Amino acid sequence: MKQVYLMSDEADSQMALVFSFYEGVERKGPGSEVSTLKALNLLNVLPSNPGIVEFGCGAGAATIALARNFPCHITAVDIHQPFLDELEHHAVREGVKDRITTLAADMGNPPFPDESFDVVWSEGAIYNIGFEQGLSRWRRLLPSGGYVAVSDAVWLSEKPPQRAKEFWDAEYPAMTSVEENLRKFSATGFEPVGHFILSSTDWEKYYLPLQSHLVKFWESHADNAAVDSLVKSIQREIDIWKEFGTTCGYAFFVGRAV
Ligand SMILES: C[S@@+](CC[C@H](N)C(=O)[O-])C[C@H]1O[C@@H](n2cnc3c(N)ncnc32)[C@H](O)[C@@H]1O
Repeated sequence: MKQVYLMSDEADSQMALVFSFYEGVERKGPGSEVSTLKALNLLNVLPSNPGIVEFGCGAGAATIALARNFPCHITAVDIHQPFLDELEHHAVREGVKDRITTLAADMGNPPFPDESFDVVWSEGAIYNIGFEQGLSRWRRLLPSGGYVAVSDAVWLSEKPPQRAKEFWDAEYPAMTSVEENLRKFSATGFEPVGHFILSSTDWEKYYLPLQSHLVKFWESHADNAAVDSLVKSIQREIDIWKEFGTTCGYAFFVGRAV
């Protein structure tokens, strides 16, 4: 989902547009059930029926995958209530509503006491507050031995092509390498357990439905300059990934609280 780097009223209306664009889009970032379960498999020491808090859950792409495949309770947190309403609808459809509690809150200031959960989960959302900031703000929610599982955009090349660099420098200036993110784990009270790069299928699962949504959204907001600019920017992201996807991508990281 697009990041917005503006101030005040302009930022509010731009953010409202981004939120309204993503309403009804089931997966709001790169990923797949396969990758969610691959990351879950790296969590090998857990109590029975662990408590998971998921930040930036959106409409529940990962939430539902976890709840369907693993006995646990998930507190699914997002800042945008309509996404949580979508998640609840999907949870009922998938028969896992009793395993999920939704909460509208800011992931940068989670309203939970220390050591409230066994696992912190977040797919494609930590960029909203920054990788290191997210890890350091979430660490207190876990006891020693608890896990964090988080996916984020990363550079996969030391010398990315100029056009990819220009695009991502504007979209996500703090984006860095896998190695740098692993260092941030150690700096925030976690030891890295494992990581992997998301496959091209994971991008297609996000971008293919998004591409048709993009066209419909654009057509239903004819002559709206803000919509035109948002749609073009999302299309650019898709094009950059298609052209330069081997030099920038998404990585899933799992760490253990020390
Ligand atoms: C790229 S989407 C990913 C959603 C979901 N994890 C998925 O993979 O489909 C990022 C999500 O983070 C949420 N978000 C953004 N800023 C947030 C904040 N400060 N606190 C909680 N959620 C936030 C957005 O509303 C959005 O649902």
